[in-house]
Amino acid sequence: GDLSSLVVAVDGTSGSGKSSTCRAVAERLGLRYLDTGAMYRAVAWWMLQHDVNIYDIQEVTAHADGPRLESGTDPRRPTITLDGVDVSAEIRSDAVNAAVSPVSTVPAVRARLVEQQREIIGDGGIVVEGRDIGSVVWPAAGLKVFLTADPDARAARRAAEAGTTDVTATQESLLNRDRIDSGRAVAPLTMADGAVHIDTTELTLEEVVDVVVGLATAPAEA
Ligand code: DC
Repeated sequence: GDLSSLVVAVDGTSGSGKSSTCRAVAERLGLRYLDTGAMYRAVAWWMLQHDVNIYDIQEVTAHADGPRLESGTDPRRPTITLDGVDVSAEIRSDAVNAAVSPVSTVPAVRARLVEQQREIIGDGGIVVEGRDIGSVVWPAAGLKVFLTADPDARAARRAAEAGTTDVTATQESLLNRDRIDSGRAVAPLTMADGAVHIDTTELTLEEVVDVVVGLATAPAEA
């Protein structure tokens, strides 16, 4: 079928395999790719650079429109630039891991980024990953997927990606983000109505990708 206007919304917990899955699905289907987590990370990084107290809601709100953000949507080469500078590497630091969830709770930050995300999604043809894509950003998505995995599996994957052997610290960091992301007042992490839940604990990346590609290309129900 014609996927040129399809929106695939992929939400789930930290480290459940969203990024690898979404990029591979987008490549297989010839769709664009948007990592909304990278946008929240870039804003958090900018605030740390500008000595914004990330625990002060008023201060974060006052700076919510500060940085000019641009997201590249090529799944083979995702980029995120801040005022024209590529910060793809910087936004994966431990400092940003710790700062991003508190910054993401602030409504002014979310309002600004959600507006930008909707503009990028536009006429569709895109795989979008985050926490609130199926519930808030694009509830009309043609396919909604919710990815989870056991904390042990998630920590082991993330630690391997980051090249660290401290799986315990990695797990604490993941669970702390889950707790803040699920508990916040605005757009908490939740499984959207109509989402397909995939537990990736016992699955390889290829298996998860096959499931999502199958769902995206299955004929719509009559
Ligand atoms: O997907 P990620 O781990 O890079 O996301 C980092 C943080 O950004 C996550 O802990 C919460 C926030 N986030 C969000 O609040 N809403 C989104 N749609 C995506 C990410």
